[in-house]
Amino acid sequence: MSMVIVGALRERAPGETRVSIVPEVADKLIAAGVRVLIERGAGIAAQFPDALYKQSDWADSAAEILSTADVLLTVAPLTVEQIGQLKPGAVVIGFMQAHSRHAEVKALRDRKITSFAVEFIPRISRAQSMDALSSQAAIAGYKAVLLAANSLSKFMPMLTTAAGTIRPSQALVIGAGVAGLQAIATARRLGAVVEAYDVRSATKEQVKSLGAKFVETGVSADGVGGYARELTAEERAKQQDALDARIAVADAVITTASVPGRKAPVIVTRAAVERMKAGAVIVDIAAEQGGNCELTKAGETVLHNGVKIIGPINLPGQLAYNASEMYARNLLNFLRPAIGKEGQLAIDWDDEVFRDACLTHAGAIKHKATEGSLT
Ligand code: NAI
Repeated sequence: MSMVIVGALRERAPGETRVSIVPEVADKLIAAGVRVLIERGAGIAAQFPDALYKQSDWADSAAEILSTADVLLTVAPLTVEQIGQLKPGAVVIGFMQAHSRHAEVKALRDRKITSFAVEFIPRISRAQSMDALSSQAAIAGYKAVLLAANSLSKFMPMLTTAAGTIRPSQALVIGAGVAGLQAIATARRLGAVVEAYDVRSATKEQVKSLGAKFVETGVSADGVGGYARELTAEERAKQQDALDARIAVADAVITTASVPGRKAPVIVTRAAVERMKAGAVIVDIAAEQGGNCELTKAGETVLHNGVKIIGPINLPGQLAYNASEMYARNLLNFLRPAIGKEGQLAIDWDDEVFRDACLTHAGAIKHKATEGSLT
């Protein structure tokens, strides 16, 4: 049996700086018995020059990788054109954005590609080391706070100086998932006074343990089985009022609320922005999913009544070295169990990690929600 080839492209999506295989991961894959084929220059934008990939093989073009890799590891979803160049029966692992990229999903199906979407890897403890959503969200949370700090005309920490005492900035983090918790921790490290809010009351303890105050809205959204329940209109208004009051006093608002595969909820309304202080800043991590702030424009900074609303795109790409390192390790941890003793590919379809993450296989769409939403 010829050796399995695991490939990585130089990413071509606009603004994508990350690479799917870093040198350390390439070496580990090679130690596991496969061949690693990297497109020249693939790691340069993430500060991994070619010379660091000591044991890998090189390809001069994307076409060569696409047509020879048995397993292709990607950051951004492949284009329909790239999918058309894949080797029959190839395996692709990466972000797929399946809810919005219907043409690409159909192309993967029609070319009988086995595709695994990292977004669908189940969030069970065994799969934590493969959780690319978490690794990249943590980076986004960190970077969002730095963007906010850099945009304020205030210090974040309290300072006692000969020129008097400087009050610390007030930060408000909305959404206390992976990104939000990292945002809280980062803002705290910078010395801000931090408040946070999430619809899930389970986050309250986590917020407090990071030294932030949980915003109490007087409304509990807890439903059955730990999921949030739908709120009544009256409850929603009460919740919004309580939150708006905290938004109004914040210097920096970091919004991170998203609902998987759906448009992000609007939580910071235009009216709320208009109550904010001049010089305040909002960094909307959910910008690419439509934004948590009504005024957010993805990829732009909007100035409204002296309030800056930053809608960053691909925050993990702004920390490309560590983002790539973490992402590549996630992919390695996912793929490693599928590499057999002889370096052959042996996917265990009884394993829920592979089963759940599978988007397309053998000419069929395996992910139910995606199949149902295809137009
Ligand atoms: P996410 O990126 O989907 O959403 C971010 C946060 O926004 C969530 O905490 C969510 O509750 C919150 N949110 C949604 N709508 C909101 C609204 N209208 N107002 C305020 N907040 C709102 O979430 P993420 O970071 O991917 O985590 C989701 C869940 O998965 C969490 O419960 C987390 O603890 C869990 N998780 C479990 C892991 C594991 O067991 N391996 C790993 C990572 C996360």
